[in-house]
Amino acid sequence: MQLPTDFKRLRRLRRTAAIRSLVRETELNVRDLIYPLFVAHGTGVKEEIGSMPGVYHLSVDMLRREIQEISQTGIEAVLLFGVPAHKDDLSSEAYAQEGIVQQGIRAIKEENPDLTVITDVCLCAYNPHGHCGIVRGGQILNDPTLELLAKTAISHAQAGADIIAPSDMMDGRIAAIRAGLDQEGFVDIPIMSYSVKYASSFYGPFREAAHSAPAFGDRKTYQMDPANTREALREAAADVEEGADFLMVKPAMVYMDIIRQLRDRFDLPLVSYNVSGEYSMIKAAAQNGWIEERQVVLELLTGLKRAGSDLIITYHAKDVAKWLREGCLDAQRI
Ligand code: PBG
Repeated sequence: MQLPTDFKRLRRLRRTAAIRSLVRETELNVRDLIYPLFVAHGTGVKEEIGSMPGVYHLSVDMLRREIQEISQTGIEAVLLFGVPAHKDDLSSEAYAQEGIVQQGIRAIKEENPDLTVITDVCLCAYNPHGHCGIVRGGQILNDPTLELLAKTAISHAQAGADIIAPSDMMDGRIAAIRAGLDQEGFVDIPIMSYSVKYASSFYGPFREAAHSAPAFGDRKTYQMDPANTREALREAAADVEEGADFLMVKPAMVYMDIIRQLRDRFDLPLVSYNVSGEYSMIKAAAQNGWIEERQVVLELLTGLKRAGSDLIITYHAKDVAKWLREGCLDAQRI
């Protein structure tokens, strides 16, 4: 048989590690990573979250130590969540001056003023029913919730937050938070909107971490149906119009098509959130020796960048920072 010779020799560019490095299109950088932290009441608390090995509830004193450590890694931004002492129907600890997040923000800024502090704005961890808005008669009310979200955002900005990240999925929240921040003089504080947040089962471990599982029903009347794409584009467009400064897709792994579509259609910085369930699956498989954790994580995050993420929120951030320092510059070379 006469073998064909007129085919493309794509392997030429893969022959050596150095050539592969020259033609590599996507590079992971520690500056792209945002590390989530959970701050809790008490002192000396460093309590591992059962389903998220390596992730902790930290009291403010322990948070300070953690910030010292993070500041050595090259990570430039953290996303702060609170575990409140007190839950009530008005979610009052969410916007209390001495609330746990507000204390956490001030402590982080004292330890390292250069670290960018992004704060999650939501009510679900702060009320007994665990929903992201005010509940009356079994309904999650949209408009009355907006004022509390704006109040929460303002209190975070007053405590020194650099970026406000609302995750509640109420309609009109970006406009309400923008108006609230502006009225209080925080015109320069950007909003990182959880624009496209799906009603996902991948949040399970986080809800254990934040004690924020809904006590009744689910989040499907405000978070998005995983089956929908066009609706994601409408959500993002609405947020742009209302004044969002960043867009986000959450979860990340099974929504890479959505990340790509947002990247192609909008010019705002795009964030993907590699959520708790995605983290736990990798950790569990790695602990069983079924996958190579480092290679799998670097491949995953490279995939999220390739799909169009500018920034990635990930519980793997500290590990990745370490691997990148050790010179594992890409998933292929290690
Ligand atoms: C709060 C919030 C959630 C997450 C971030 N902010 C949980 C939820 O909406 O149920 C999920 C983060 C994760 O799973 O890592 N609304």
